[in-house]
Amino acid sequence: MADSRQRADPGSTEELQARRLDRDRLPRHLAVIMDGNGRWAQQRGMPRIEGHRSAVTAVRETVEACRRLGLEVLTLYAFSTENWNRPRAEVWALMNLIKEYVGAELERLAEGGVRLRLLGRWRELDPSVVAALERARSATRECDGMTLNVALNYSGRSEIVDACRRLVTDWASGQPAEIDEATVGRYLSTAEQPDPDLLIRTSGEHRISNLLLWQIAYTELYFTDTLWPDFRRRDLYRALLDYQGRRRRFGGVEASVSRVAGRRGA
Ligand code: IPE
Ligand code: IPE
Ligand code: MG
Repeated sequence: MADSRQRADPGSTEELQARRLDRDRLPRHLAVIMDGNGRWAQQRGMPRIEGHRSAVTAVRETVEACRRLGLEVLTLYAFSTENWNRPRAEVWALMNLIKEYVGAELERLAEGGVRLRLLGRWRELDPSVVAALERARSATRECDGMTLNVALNYSGRSEIVDACRRLVTDWASGQPAEIDEATVGRYLSTAEQPDPDLLIRTSGEHRISNLLLWQIAYTELYFTDTLWPDFRRRDLYRALLDYQGRRRRFGGVEASVSRVAGRRGA
């Protein structure tokens, strides 16, 4: 029933875009920097938190669309370690929204076979947030559909620092004997996942803001002026169609976007 409710009108631009997508050449891993909530609210004369609240619809629609397309991994950047520099009231409101989101969406995620994985120092958050996250993580542990990575209290540099600390400790006690790129990858929070093939950033900013620094070495970047609360399926399809028109070379010669190329980062 949920299917028929959410299917696009067959004559709509959205449906036409969906039909143009080559299902064999979708990214295995899509990462999204969900940006522009504050500006979305300010443009409407509302407090910034209203932008964060409205962003939940964009999150729900993106997760659902990616799951239906059969993506393996979707990473959503929800809160960076630098976001602590925001006013306390905004941080507090964001934490409450995250808690509400995981609580409210848990059933839908589990029913859809979506497994929640958390990236970052999320265990350092308020105990009530940690408890909600732990609950969602264990409730979706057995799900074998798409993995939803939520980067929370995350930064690429702190992830690399944490990986180095554990790696050095293990290395000192004899394992691993060798340290190469694959070894480092195994110590990151995305261990065993393919690197992102595509990274979308909304709101017109052209920067990475500390997301998955190691993993995006060969990721295709897509920037859109759309503010995150306005991001819908049609925007996702537009980004995916753009991606499918790219030529990925990985330092070599002509190779169009393909699942095989994407696998190189695994
Ligand atoms: C993204 O929107 C949400 C988070 C970073 C948590 P912003 O809150 O950064 O919105 P802008 O960039 O100020 O418009
Ligand atoms: C990036 O957005 C972080 C998240 C989306 C969680 P920011 O709004 O924090 O990034 P900057 O400060 O504009 O680089
Ligand atoms: Mg921002």
